[in-house]
Formats: sequence, C-alpha cells, structure tokens
Amino acid sequence: MTNLDAYRISSEPFYRAVDSEIELFEAAHKSRMPVMLKGPTGCGKTRFVEYMAWRLGKPLITVSCHEDMTASDLVGRYLLDSHGTAWHDGPLTLAVRGGAICYLDEIVEARQDTTVVIHSLTDDRRILTLEKRNEVVKAHPDFQVVISYNPGYQSVLKDLKESTKQRFSAIAFGYPNSDVEAEIIKREAAVDRRTADTLVRIAARSRNLKGHGLEEGASTRMLINAGLLVAADIPIERACQVAMVVPITDDPDLRDALTGAIAACL
Ligand SMILES: Nc1ncnc2c1ncn2[C@@H]1O[C@H](COP(=O)(O)OP(=O)(O)OP(=O)(O)O)[C@@H](O)[C@H]1O
Ligand SMILES: [Mg+2]
Repeated sequence: MTNLDAYRISSEPFYRAVDSEIELFEAAHKSRMPVMLKGPTGCGKTRFVEYMAWRLGKPLITVSCHEDMTASDLVGRYLLDSHGTAWHDGPLTLAVRGGAICYLDEIVEARQDTTVVIHSLTDDRRILTLEKRNEVVKAHPDFQVVISYNPGYQSVLKDLKESTKQRFSAIAFGYPNSDVEAEIIKREAAVDRRTADTLVRIAARSRNLKGHGLEEGASTRMLINAGLLVAADIPIERACQVAMVVPITDDPDLRDALTGAIAACL
C-alpha cells in the first residue's frame, strides 16, 4: 500500500468561500469527477484545492506543469541505482495508487501529448497504463484529478485538446467581491481593515485597465503583497508601487495612470 502521509495537509488552510465553490467541489468529489479550476492568476485556485483536500481528508499531490514535462515525469521511470535499475512511480502514479487528489497546476503549459496520459484516468475506465512496465494500475477509489487553467493567456497552440476539456467539470474563479477581498487581505497580510479597503479600491481601478494596455489587473495575491509591505512599515503609496504597479507594466503611461489611481484612493 502506498503511504501518502507526507502529502496530507495537517492544519486547516485559510480559505474564504466566494460563492458556492465548496459545495460544488464536494458534490463532484462524491463521484471523483475530474474538476477544472478556471480563473486569472492569484485569485485563490491553489489555496482552494489545498483547503478542499484538508476538508475532505485526502492527500494532495501537486504537479506544476511545464513545456518540457514528459509523460514519464508524471507516470514514472526506471532509474539506475546500486542494485541495477529500479522503477520509481511519478507523482501521478503515486496519487493513482494511494488515492490522492492529483492537482495538475497550469495544465496548458504541458504539451498535449503529455496531457493525454490522464485520459484513461478521467473517464469511466479510471486506469493508468504504465507502458514501460507492462502494468495497468486501477485507480484507488479516492483518486481524483484537479487541474487549473488560466483562461485567455494561451494561444491556440497552447490550449487543451477538446477531448481533454470535455472530461472535466469546471468551477470558475474570479476576484472576490470587495468586502470578502478586504477580509482576505486583512487576514493574510495582518493589516487593519481600513488599509485592506484602500487596497481593494486601488485594485478595482487597476482591473478597469485590463484590456487598455494591461493584460491583467492586480490580483488578490498582489494586494496581499502590498499589505505585507504596509505591515512592514512601508508607506502605502510606495508599497502599492512596488507590489502592484512595477511588476505588471513597463509602459510609462500606464505606470502614471496606475500611480494616479493609487493617489486618488488614498
Ligand atoms: N478565497 C480566498 N480565501 C483565502 N485566501 C485567498 C482567497 N483567494 C485568494 N487568497 C489569497 O491569495 C493568494 C493567491 O492565491 P492562489 O495562490 O491560490 O492563486 P491561484 O489562483 O492559484 O494563482 P495562479 O493561477 O497564479 O497559480 C493566496 O496565497 C491567498 O493568500
Ligand atoms: Mg496556483
């Protein structure tokens, strides 16, 4: 039996529900339905899956997908050791055998020929074929696949195959409403509510510039970073520059527009 204790989340991660995502995920988990978490960067997808794994008492195995990832990186490979060659399960196989939630972060970054290894696991077969070992692994009853997906960032070349997409249910994430977002910032950055509210107002302006030169407005993660700088005694105007303006644009006009937006909110 595979022991996945190292992948268990021991203490409750802080997660503030934004909509009905917790109920939706629990319902999907009942039948181990594959779930896609869809939304812009820094809006809480990773935190949510950590929270759900904790809540459901399941181990969580996370794989950060990238262009050079091969099917062997997911499934496993033979490696040379002092006794000859030995098989080493990859993270996906570990999750399949041990009944973990396997979270494939930024799945679109992986090449499509890599992504297809999850196909037999995400339909009613629920099996994984280890070709190099001539082994068919039946998924543990608790095994579930979760993927994250940032819509809009990828080109046509970098998208999921239709046959991959159609295996998943998707929960859409966005930025929380201002009240909830301020609560999250207050808690995560340990700032007062007034500061959190100011940061949220600045974010709203930044998000309005999306499509007008900015690819994406300031995320919740950026607001927390700004809050952490404020908590470390950096004046709020400077903290916002460092955490919310400079990272996202090199364009002097946009920087001026964002700087003006910050000043207007203080
Ligand atoms: N609903 C929420 N409850 C608690 N914390 C949140 C919530 N939403 C966002 N956060 C905070 O925002 C930070 C960024 O969220 P997270 O890392 O989950 O983003 P993500 O959607 O996975 O982004 P990416 O696509 O870049 O990986 C978290 O570390 C957490 O502090
Ligand atoms: Mg993430």
